[in-house]
Amino acid sequence: MGEKDIYRHDVIVIGGGLSGLRAAIEACDCGADVAVVSKVYPLRSHSVAAQGGINAALGNSPEAKNDTWEKHAFDTIRGSVYLADQDAVEVLCRQAPETVLELEHWGTVFSRDHEGKIAQRPFGGADVPRTCYAADRTGHNLMNTLFEQASYRGITFHNEYFVTSLVVDEEICRGCIALNLRSGKVHAFNSSSLILATGGYGMIYDHSTNSLINTGDGMALAINAGAQLKDMEFVQFHPTTLYGSNILISEGARGEGAYLVNSEGDRFMARYAPQSMELAPRDIVARSIMKEIKAGRGFKDGYVHLDLRHLGADIIKERLPGIRQIAMDFAGLDPVEVPIPVQPGQHYSMGGIDVNIDGETGVKGLYAVGECACISVHGANRLGGNSLLDTLVFGRRTGRKACSESNDGHVPILKEVMTREIQRLQDLINNKGEGFAPLMSEIKKTMFDRFGIFRDEADMNEGLRSLNDLGQRYKQVSVKGSGKAFNQSLIRVLELGYMVDTAEAVALSAIERKESRGSHFRTDFPDRSDDLYLKHTIISTDDKLQRSIDFSPVKLGLFPVKGDNYQ
Ligand code: FUM
Repeated sequence: MGEKDIYRHDVIVIGGGLSGLRAAIEACDCGADVAVVSKVYPLRSHSVAAQGGINAALGNSPEAKNDTWEKHAFDTIRGSVYLADQDAVEVLCRQAPETVLELEHWGTVFSRDHEGKIAQRPFGGADVPRTCYAADRTGHNLMNTLFEQASYRGITFHNEYFVTSLVVDEEICRGCIALNLRSGKVHAFNSSSLILATGGYGMIYDHSTNSLINTGDGMALAINAGAQLKDMEFVQFHPTTLYGSNILISEGARGEGAYLVNSEGDRFMARYAPQSMELAPRDIVARSIMKEIKAGRGFKDGYVHLDLRHLGADIIKERLPGIRQIAMDFAGLDPVEVPIPVQPGQHYSMGGIDVNIDGETGVKGLYAVGECACISVHGANRLGGNSLLDTLVFGRRTGRKACSESNDGHVPILKEVMTREIQRLQDLINNKGEGFAPLMSEIKKTMFDRFGIFRDEADMNEGLRSLNDLGQRYKQVSVKGSGKAFNQSLIRVLELGYMVDTAEAVALSAIERKESRGSHFRTDFPDRSDDLYLKHTIISTDDKLQRSIDFSPVKLGLFPVKGDNYQ
């Protein structure tokens, strides 16, 4: 089939990870002509790297017999430090069991307990074992299940198309413009509903578990198209990433009973969370590790040990084969024999494009779901096992809503819009400034050093100044190479633009929130302040194309706000 200049579909989903595929499947089942546009082949999306599992109150394990969606909701809201919107958490937790069972019926190979039921392991911040898993390759299994379902339905995939901008006309989203990476040709994708499902922005940080493709594309596209970003200051650092490469070492390991040990041989979590120990929420465990390292009780170069040896070879090989392989391949050690060197690394974005529980943004026809969106179900700190659930529960809802609103007919994207975008890309290619690589390194370092696990005003202001300077330098950045096919330099430059916009949003929000809550820990404001900050941070683009900050109320309801601390 020859390439068209303009493709038309009722619903276009940008991103082929779990949330994108689930949204596409639902929109297709509700009768829409759907296409997925993805910058990589879908099975290379970052969702495939998810390890530990997906939460649902199935009550399969003996300790969890009386588990309910309400208990799951309470754990989620408490873990979020009461910043999650409670209506959205109710949807998430109520629909969790049916979501997991749907996956099972679609063929996901979940690990089983000795009765043959879906096995559930303990995860951080959860009262009982609630995390369903497929060994430690849960994302890989789910992705294959959903890709199979999408392919079976004949959903169209436009793979290896890089979206350069959204088309918004009279405040309605009409589609997007994208570059075909193979041919270098620019195309328009015209839709009635467009769903952003582009994942996170881990590449703006040094030391991230994320894939190279996670450059904040959706968040940047959305804010530049008139949508708002919410709670961008909340950046999750996973406590256990492999020292040296920062590949994820699943919380599933601690769920199975692995210990965190410092250089003096102490299980130091006893000092910080004596009851929950290694299974306290991630923000607490990550800060505790950093405190040990800062106090000189880490290992040289800044790591601690994750010790699995007492679990025994059989459990490690059966339930944690992926992390064993990662440790062997990337650190040259076998966790059956020796502890794994680990350190915290950036892992997840709780903030994102501001949407309601149906995935609607403030721009008509534009939706968002998954990590690029903020509904918000994770608030100030996400519990492990809730992100896969979020992608699927809200993928389904968003797909349905986008489909039901997609019958207004197409308003065509005008040729001039494409011509303008082609010219913009050509201008970028003609730039004669510095290359992208130094700027990318500087953003990563600035974000890690100034907007990391511990933050304070002076550091962050210095960080924002560096980001503003980088933003100016970006305007002249040059593309090395003018080839059409797979022009990697052009793609990196476009991604760098998204990174600049996303990093600025994180920085502005973090400076504005003068309290500590969940993953946002300020040494100059170490206490949580519900009086001043039990509210969402909202970033918009004003009439002069500057970013402005505001706040919006948190939706409370199910559970009263408490000042409780984890023990
Ligand atoms: O540790 C993990 O397996 C990560 C899980 C998650 O982020 O939900």
